[in-house]
Amino acid sequence: MTTSPEPMTPEPADPLAPAALGPITLKNRIIKAATFEGMSINNKMSDAIIDYHRAVAEGGVAMTTLAYCAVSRDGQGAPNEIVVEEGASGGLAQFAEAMHDAGAKASMQLGHAGPVGSVGGSNRLAPSKVFAPQAMKSTTPATLGDLRRIIADHARSATIAADAGFDCVELHFGHGYLVSSFLSPKLNKRTDDWGGSIENRSRLAREVAGAVREAVGTRIAVTTKLNMSDGVDGGIWLDESIETARLLESDGTLDAIELTGGSSFENPMYLFRGEVPVAEMAQTMPKAIGLAFRLTSKKFMKAYPFTEAFFLEYARQFRDALDLPLILLGGINNLDTVHQAMNEGFEFVAMGRALLREPDLINQWSDGSGRGSLCIHCNKCMPSIYAGTHCVLVHEGQRPGFDTWQRINPKRN
Ligand SMILES: Cc1cc2nc3c(=O)[nH]c(=O)nc-3n(C[C@H](O)[C@H](O)[C@H](O)COP(=O)(O)O)c2cc1C
Repeated sequence: MTTSPEPMTPEPADPLAPAALGPITLKNRIIKAATFEGMSINNKMSDAIIDYHRAVAEGGVAMTTLAYCAVSRDGQGAPNEIVVEEGASGGLAQFAEAMHDAGAKASMQLGHAGPVGSVGGSNRLAPSKVFAPQAMKSTTPATLGDLRRIIADHARSATIAADAGFDCVELHFGHGYLVSSFLSPKLNKRTDDWGGSIENRSRLAREVAGAVREAVGTRIAVTTKLNMSDGVDGGIWLDESIETARLLESDGTLDAIELTGGSSFENPMYLFRGEVPVAEMAQTMPKAIGLAFRLTSKKFMKAYPFTEAFFLEYARQFRDALDLPLILLGGINNLDTVHQAMNEGFEFVAMGRALLREPDLINQWSDGSGRGSLCIHCNKCMPSIYAGTHCVLVHEGQRPGFDTWQRINPKRN
């Protein structure tokens, strides 16, 4: 009698070994997540931004993500962001070259801020008219012409990134930014082809990804950062978000999806978990607004306890539903957690705050000198985006990029 062989269980991937991400190969499975640097000059690259990323690139990550880059002037979420237009190419090329010299790949987060836009004069494009409390103004429903222009802007910006030597673009489909707001049944009340069913609400995401892929071909990897849940009543939730992810997968336009949640527009702490840095945020505002913010922060900044890998339970449902490579994000601080992610079938992890605290963390994991992180999720790095992003626990003189920024910031000189 012959017995059939036991089904083979694939070996879990080694987090520190090379892996393919679409057309590129990463030296390990750890990506520096987008953490807006707040150190651009005239919406262009600066030496401070390069120094900030060089530290994590030299510190062992496979790829670092330049954040958040707007595809057009009206797509800015904050005044001092890089706008990816022709005049920005030289600085972007310097960035890509510096990351390559430091042994890492370069990714660029690209998007249109839509309702999150907070730049003076921004019309805060959105699917429908809703009140934007941060701006104390209503949003402007995007016309078909706006949408066509913005789709083309994504393709043009991705081409600029590829031409400048970037290895990847990450399309921002999360956090209440324009594409994310179109996905939301709460924010998208349109009755045309861009609203209603989840197929219609996913149209902008699919067209943006399609136009970008067509523009860059297989020269570079194309990923997206997609909300699993907005963390808001009536917002996007797992079942519909999985449907969007399936549609994107079936289009064949993406190399991976990074899974996130929360909304800079409606529920920011859902993205981060941990302490709400109320005093530090109030300090970044004009005095009267800061005072009002302190009094009302509990309403606008609902707190969530921090737990390691806080998006894992939701992300597992995407893993079950999709074949596309997935990037697990959110509260990853330990090498053991990365092993767990690999055991559960995630291809990559992305890390934000732990790498702000210790840019060389991955080297520590590789040489065996550490397995954990010193980040305490105080979230005081969050309001630092207005003065140059840094971890407040890192000593002066050892804060990559921020120390450079202190020297070169034109407002200080
Ligand atoms: C200072 C700071 C700036 C951030 N800026 C961005 C950004 O520009 N774009 C984005 O998608 N997420 C941004 N995030 C969110 C992170 O990419 C990530 O989703 C979040 O911090 C959770 O991951 P972590 O627990 O590894 O930090 C930012 C986070 C921090 C702390």
